[in-house]
Amino acid sequence: MNNIVLIGFMGSGKTTVGQLLAQTLGYTFADTDQLIEAGESMTVADIFAQNGEGYFRQLETLIMEEVSGTMDHTVLSVGGGLPMTGSNHKYLKKCGKVVYLKVSEQTVINRLKGNSDRPLLSGDDATEMIYKLLALRAPTYQSLADITIAADHMTVEEIVQEIIRLQ
Ligand code: S3P
Repeated sequence: MNNIVLIGFMGSGKTTVGQLLAQTLGYTFADTDQLIEAGESMTVADIFAQNGEGYFRQLETLIMEEVSGTMDHTVLSVGGGLPMTGSNHKYLKKCGKVVYLKVSEQTVINRLKGNSDRPLLSGDDATEMIYKLLALRAPTYQSLADITIAADHMTVEEIVQEIIRLQ
């Protein structure tokens, strides 16, 4: 399996790190949110607003089933909620090495303040949601991870080098 899957909370840097990691390794880069948006010709925020979160979660599983059977020499970044659907676990593990980009609540708050792309954090209670969701999700991220990177104080370049060193 010559693939790397990046998991972690919203704002943990999966997409930015994934792009540089893929470029550095000469791999293809893919991102489940981008694949879903391309397939639906809609943004994730519009899919949530028009079809609801449940529909989006079904699309995530369909995408994982598809890409896990075909991807090769690819870095795949997955949406922050995707590992929370139990049926996705077998697909994540099938893809290849799972790397968890672990960040603190404060890092997420600093990075996503004022950002309107994440429907789950678009309410007035965004900070509360970050604390609640991260506490709920962290054990699942950790249990799926082959490699965990404590990414709070690392640059994108340092994270990429660390993943390459550990993989
Ligand atoms: C979500 C994370 C988002 C996106 C959607 C839901 C989540 O992806 O899939 O807004 O439930 O954490 P990123 O983790 O890439 O922001």
